[in-house]
Amino acid sequence: IPVSIFKSSEEASLSSAREIATLIKKRQAEGKHAVLGLATGSTPTRVYAELVKMHQKEGLSFKNVYTFNLDEYYPMRPDSLQSYVRFMNEHLFNHIDIPKNQVHIPDGTLPKDKVADFCREYEQKIDSLGGIDIQLLGIGRTGHIGFNEPGSSEKSFTRLVTLDQMTRIDAASDFFGEENVPRKAITMGVGSILKAKQVIMMAWGEGKARVIKKAVEGPITDQIPSSFLQKHTNCHIVLDDAASSELV
Ligand code: F6R
Repeated sequence: IPVSIFKSSEEASLSSAREIATLIKKRQAEGKHAVLGLATGSTPTRVYAELVKMHQKEGLSFKNVYTFNLDEYYPMRPDSLQSYVRFMNEHLFNHIDIPKNQVHIPDGTLPKDKVADFCREYEQKIDSLGGIDIQLLGIGRTGHIGFNEPGSSEKSFTRLVTLDQMTRIDAASDFFGEENVPRKAITMGVGSILKAKQVIMMAWGEGKARVIKKAVEGPITDQIPSSFLQKHTNCHIVLDDAASSELV
């Protein structure tokens, strides 16, 4: 699995943003659309900032872009401080020219009995657009990608899941206390992620070094769902120096 190591997360983020911009422009030139799979959290924020800058300074247009976010807490109102809808609007969508009907984020407001249908339709929409061209990922300390916690199968698709205790602890400060962190989330599956034509997984800082070693060099196991990326033929890992420090 190819690994690119950058001196800083800023440089690494710029390189990921450039890959995305190159795809969008290529598809524009062909009169076609591009489909992006997007992540939230602290890892991709700089990538989004670079894309916004390219839109504002270089006229990069997102009119031909469709996006699918990996996950959303459940339940979650879109206007809540911690919602991924709000996160994406603030970091990216409010600042670019993407038509809002081309943006997709799992719906945290659905009644429980509507979730399974929603998840099936989410997968169908991705497929009907020709699949995800580039899937951006972060990685959680549990080894999760999206909210696919340990135990998630390689053949899992979009579904309602229960968050791992460690994930809820890591989210506690955003929610002003672990007790306020939702216990569930809707997430694209490992199988959904593996179907993407290209995957870029990013990680910054020494806090991610141990799990990066397991994901990249460890055995392929559902105990570290990110280790399934070793089976993808067009996946690369983008790290800063600190996140790469445990790799041999
Ligand atoms: C977010 C997501 C998660 C995060 C992971 C890392 O949409 O799918 O897998 O990528 O929890 O979070 P940060 O980047 O905040 O360290």
